Amino acid sequence: MAISPRITSSQQKASSALNSSPEVREHFIIKGLGGKRQLKGTIAVRGAKNAALKILAAPFLFSDTLYVENIPQIEDIERLLDILKALGVSVSSHSSKYGFALALDATGTLQNKLPRVLAKRLRASIVLTGPILARTGRVLFPHPGGCLIGARPIDIFLDGFKKLGASVKEKNGWYDITAPRGGLHGATIRFVNPSVTATETLMMAAVLAKGKTVLKNVALEPEIEALADFLNQCGARIQGAGTTTIEIMGTPLLRASGKVYKTPPDRIEAGSFLILGALAAKDLRITGCEPSHVEALIDVLELAGVNVEVGDGTLRVKNNSHPKHFKSFDIKTHEYPGFPTDLQAPIVTFLTQVSGQALVFETIFEGRLSYVPELVRMGADIQVCDPHRVIVRGPTALSGHELESPDLRAGLACLIAAIVAKGESVIHNVYTIDRGYEQIEERLLGIGVDIKRITNS
Ligand code: EPZ
Repeated sequence: MAISPRITSSQQKASSALNSSPEVREHFIIKGLGGKRQLKGTIAVRGAKNAALKILAAPFLFSDTLYVENIPQIEDIERLLDILKALGVSVSSHSSKYGFALALDATGTLQNKLPRVLAKRLRASIVLTGPILARTGRVLFPHPGGCLIGARPIDIFLDGFKKLGASVKEKNGWYDITAPRGGLHGATIRFVNPSVTATETLMMAAVLAKGKTVLKNVALEPEIEALADFLNQCGARIQGAGTTTIEIMGTPLLRASGKVYKTPPDRIEAGSFLILGALAAKDLRITGCEPSHVEALIDVLELAGVNVEVGDGTLRVKNNSHPKHFKSFDIKTHEYPGFPTDLQAPIVTFLTQVSGQALVFETIFEGRLSYVPELVRMGADIQVCDPHRVIVRGPTALSGHELESPDLRAGLACLIAAIVAKGESVIHNVYTIDRGYEQIEERLLGIGVDIKRITNS
């Protein structure tokens, strides 16, 4: 299939310069199914990226070694481990029957300045700031990086550190946070937005603060509850994780005493595979997941007419009918337990294939619709109303195309679109997909997707 020469000469120069860095050196080639249902078999869900990244920030709260297992082997984990090693945390592999496991030890000499280039590559680096500040009394860091899905402010973090008694200075793009001489003290902190990473960061900072801290209007994501539960098993006194108010009584350093944190399953992976299965599978089983974490998605898919079988740690979709027989539905993303913003792009791909018109309202991020032009180029009928809203009309047949993955979750939406489309697609910038999905092409090959990873020469 002739891939349209979308890239202009000036972009060619820019992209060739970019091609030198590892991130953009690889692309996927996918042969689409042309709307047929051919996928079948079992796909296993890995440990949650957004849980593993946060427990890796916890060693600073411990006086002994912290063990973590079922860690997804993805780029963001590698980057965060690079930062931990640069800060003086010893990281060694650890045997476990639950996938990739590590032993983390922050009992040596610690640094408290995050390496700039590494910290700017992922948003999760910001979660390190709370534990480092609480442990060492100071932390210096640049504005964090991560997916270009919005401004990604950190005002809630800075306000929280101030309320815990720290001084906050900003100079030449660096934040310099210093605890008072006697260490952080408890406080009541009300969030203006239920920020996920701010909840985790300030909850961990409060673990070593003197006295009681109350965090109000916090996020409820399951990953936050899993983190709090484990820290409590190691001596922390955290109540209310998974609700809108969390209370932390400060304690001395925690002790794991050999306990192992098992990373919970990735609910966004489970949801992404469920959407793919609903569109293109004859019979797909998704294993190693927690169905109760994706109820918002299951509800709308069942509304559309998709038959989702929920088992113990498994989901299954069996269908013979064409997706055009499914009915469309509106989506409004919302903090957990509402419809997750991380599944907004994949569900829009689904909506291009079913019958009807849908309004999709991305309420959390103002820059999370950048993938829409890629789907429109493939033949989707999507009207952008404003930075938060699109109208999707279906069904439309998608044709293979040359695509650019703009960010992690949108990259997966492009992958799903390419699998459903007629003809061949190329997806560039697959580093963005590798940031969050371990061995994605091997797992997709295992259920019948025709996908190849090509390293650009
Ligand atoms: C976490 O990002 C996740 N990342 C995101 O997943 C996820 O999309 C997001 O939560 C929402 O669920 C990680 O956990 C590493 P937020 P986070 O702070 O914490 C505003 C993925 O694909 N806000 O909850 O950065 C902000 O502008 C990634 O895995 C402030 O106003 O998101 C946004 O509107 C993408 N001030 C809202 O809160 C602050 O100080 C939610 O952002 C912080 C955030």
